[in-house]
Amino acid sequence: MSNTQGGHAIVVHGGAGSSCDYTDGCERAARYAVEELGISGDALEAAIAAVTVMEDDGRFNAGRGSVLCLDGATVEMDAAVMDTRGRLGAVACVQGIENPVLLARAVADTPHWFLAGEGANRFAAAIRHPAWNTISEHQREQHRQVREALAGSAPSMPGVRGDAFLRFWNYRGAPDLPAAAACDTVGAVVRAADGHFGVASSTGGSAPSLLGRVGDTPIIGSGFYAGPAGAVAATGIGEHIVRHLLAHRVYSWIEDGMPLDRALQRGIDLFGKDVAVGLIAVSRTEAGARSNRDMPQASIISD
Ligand code: GLY
Repeated sequence: MSNTQGGHAIVVHGGAGSSCDYTDGCERAARYAVEELGISGDALEAAIAAVTVMEDDGRFNAGRGSVLCLDGATVEMDAAVMDTRGRLGAVACVQGIENPVLLARAVADTPHWFLAGEGANRFAAAIRHPAWNTISEHQREQHRQVREALAGSAPSMPGVRGDAFLRFWNYRGAPDLPAAAACDTVGAVVRAADGHFGVASSTGGSAPSLLGRVGDTPIIGSGFYAGPAGAVAATGIGEHIVRHLLAHRVYSWIEDGMPLDRALQRGIDLFGKDVAVGLIAVSRTEAGARSNRDMPQASIISD
């Protein structure tokens, strides 16, 4: 926990359960956020700058590193942005594009706040958002691990038997599984020197999952929230996080005057040990991160 009275504060995470070997990616993202603050001074644009760096990194479950769906071919991505100037945008189940966080930012300028699936993809095409269809060796290796985990006896998600995914299979074609859940997200929260807050998050969703599955990341109040008292981003297993409206709940505790570290820990304590979860937050005076798993993270706080 850091005391950050005045000045800017940036906290970035690379996903609950991700390897801390990727911390350098978070540090780079945080530095990009600082650069953006130097240019625009805008908390939301800084949070987005950090998230685009992690989407492009290829090691995180977001953007170019997104987990492959169970068919081994499809990638579905979700992202969201929000700030205290009233900007709010989200996308879910978008396929074949670069930087979903930038598409979420573009949605914030439309009459709507949230576009999903084919409509989101058509919106991307309408605004000439860049395409990205390359599947990396890192993504294929992650998929091999998910297939192996599904074949094992341990639940692939807490409380969920692996054969549930086969029973409800909704991809084109028949399942081809030999039958560890992969579920993380990247996110950034920023307080700018002008006192505004911004949050941005992006994910390739969870693995294993059915086609069309949406977790917490693009859901306001669950995966993210920003208000006059601060900004919060969550990471972990979306099916569990949404049931607690986690980001808004933690925000409310901060707004009520609870020390930020205590609010984050209380949020983590809502979940059983088998559920991976992580949180980052900034308030008017503090900044911090908490997780019940390894979670690569970085923060930069001005004097
Ligand atoms: N937290 C990412 C997801 O559940 O989709």
